[in-house]
Amino acid sequence: MPAAPDDPGNENHELAALLDYLQRARGLDLGGYKRAGLLRRLTKRLRAIGVDGYVAYVEYLESHPTEYARLLDTLLINVTAFFRDDLPWEFVRAELLPRLLAQKEATETIRVWCAGCATGEEAYTLAIVLAEALGEEAYRERVKIYATDLDEAALAQARLAAYTDDDVADVPAEFVERYFERRGDQHVFRKDLRRTVIFGRNDLMQDAPISRVDLIACRNTLMYFDAPTQARVLARFHFALVDGGFLLLGRAETIQAHGNLFAAVDLRRRVFTKVTGLPARERLRPPARPPAARGAAAGSVGDALRAGAFDAGVVAQFVVDQGGRLAMVNARARGLFKLGTADVGRPLQDLEVSYRPYELRSVIEQAHVEREPVVRDGVPWRAPGGDQRWFDIVIAPLFDDGVVAGTSVAFVDVTEMRQAQQQLEDSQAELETAYQELQSTNEELETTNEELHSTVEELETTNEELQSTNEELETMNEELQSTNEELQTINDELRLRSDELNQANAFLESVFTSLRSGVAVLDRELRVLVWNRQAEDLWGVRAEEAEHAHFLTLDIGLPVGRLTQPLRACLAGDLAAHEAQLPATNRRGRAIVCHTRVFPLVSRASDAPQGVLVIMEERPAAGGDGAAPA
Ligand SMILES: C[S@@+](CC[C@H](N)C(=O)[O-])C[C@H]1O[C@@H](n2cnc3c(N)ncnc32)[C@H](O)[C@@H]1O
Repeated sequence: MPAAPDDPGNENHELAALLDYLQRARGLDLGGYKRAGLLRRLTKRLRAIGVDGYVAYVEYLESHPTEYARLLDTLLINVTAFFRDDLPWEFVRAELLPRLLAQKEATETIRVWCAGCATGEEAYTLAIVLAEALGEEAYRERVKIYATDLDEAALAQARLAAYTDDDVADVPAEFVERYFERRGDQHVFRKDLRRTVIFGRNDLMQDAPISRVDLIACRNTLMYFDAPTQARVLARFHFALVDGGFLLLGRAETIQAHGNLFAAVDLRRRVFTKVTGLPARERLRPPARPPAARGAAAGSVGDALRAGAFDAGVVAQFVVDQGGRLAMVNARARGLFKLGTADVGRPLQDLEVSYRPYELRSVIEQAHVEREPVVRDGVPWRAPGGDQRWFDIVIAPLFDDGVVAGTSVAFVDVTEMRQAQQQLEDSQAELETAYQELQSTNEELETTNEELHSTVEELETTNEELQSTNEELETMNEELQSTNEELQTINDELRLRSDELNQANAFLESVFTSLRSGVAVLDRELRVLVWNRQAEDLWGVRAEEAEHAHFLTLDIGLPVGRLTQPLRACLAGDLAAHEAQLPATNRRGRAIVCHTRVFPLVSRASDAPQGVLVIMEERPAAGGDGAAPA
């Protein structure tokens, strides 16, 4: 085994050092856990990481920051489930809650403490059961479930309230439907009910309990604690519960050793209720007096009756005569001090009872001298093989005609009274502790309250800021919406124009294409705007090549330079038309005569030429070459 050294004494020492380290460095007190289980789980962790011995493990903890969380994970068993053990839940709903509600005003808050809640399943089970019993509205208004655990990682998971299909497998389908919302592949406990469950870290061994609770569910947690720790935690639960409050334990847990604090409501389901009032009072009740003492009138009894009454007395008593000899001894004294009838008549000093439990001879002397009873309180005595007992010893002189004739020695057993007194002192000490815990809880609450107050104020400010930002956004949104509508209209108009333009272009295109002549439309810079299909056919230059090019730089079979002058004259508005027969070479390389006509491009709106229109037609070559204004 890697964890345990060979020498058990050494092992104990090293383990103590580890526990001490965890207590000092992390505030984790493992002293109250059952030793065997604790060792088992520590060994498991040490084995998993291959560390040999507790000393090495302390070093490992110091050098691996994430190890503490892993250790906690191994030590604090988080096993849990919804409606775990299903035995108590129906009982809680049908029997326990009606009893609890009957003790309350109709609107009074119901406080529940789920102690050792692990990843939250038990707390949400309680929420469902309570919501079923009360109805959802009353549940939301009246119930607070405080769910606590030592394990922060488990609590973080519990706070998410999100569970897988497997996790909710034991939840009745109708409850899954009603109390969970589907989010992806998770079932999330309903947010409005989730608010009633408050998760927090609480170490049952060290921290003050949640106070004034009506129901505590602490299931499968106490069983990890050793007996004295269980007793301490149960005393805290007793303090935390209101009178008439209930405690639910786990299936394997019992409360027998602490029966004075809790009484079973249903032992099989492990449901208990707080016991109020001290049973010690019962134990203090004086024993009943024997009938003889009540029935007989003094002076009317015979010697035999008197002797019988003495013998049956409930207080151990014997009488010593004037000569110092044992004269009478009753049955209780005989039993207690092992005296026999044979001892009657013997000198007291020869008997053990003369000096044990108390040195009697001097006090008998004192009683004779003072002629008064002498009392010695709380004399302890343990009979061989018996329990420790306490007696008040009353040594009373007996008179005959005013003369001391003997001494009665009576042993009043005050053991129960002393025990009750001791219990009373213990309870007072417990009360004192509880009071101090209450005080510290109060202070904590006060601090939490103040923090909450400041958080609420901060939230209110943030809320106002958010609201004003929201309003601004709202305004911007509306503005954008109206701009959007305007753009939409403009867009529609543009689309209309664009359609019209396309139609016009198509129309023009078809006009230019239908013409038998080559057509070139030039702008005022003599750049080609339009170059129709016939121009392409005539000169072998495609529209894409010609368009945007300067007309006079076009490399075509037409001597375009000869059109320079008429083109400029048309642009200047000095020429209305110009015709010429120019020798040219068509795209096939054949010499042709090209009949060219040049017109200024004018619009209806203005007479100023916007450009020039050049029309080119192939004519058979006839040897003539000339240019003439139209
Ligand atoms: C086995 S789970 C029980 C969960 C749940 N109550 C149930 O029955 O399903 C035990 C829980 O007790 C917690 N625990 C162990 N020691 C604790 C302590 N000192 N104070 C508070 N919780 C403790 C563990 O973290 C663990 O979540």
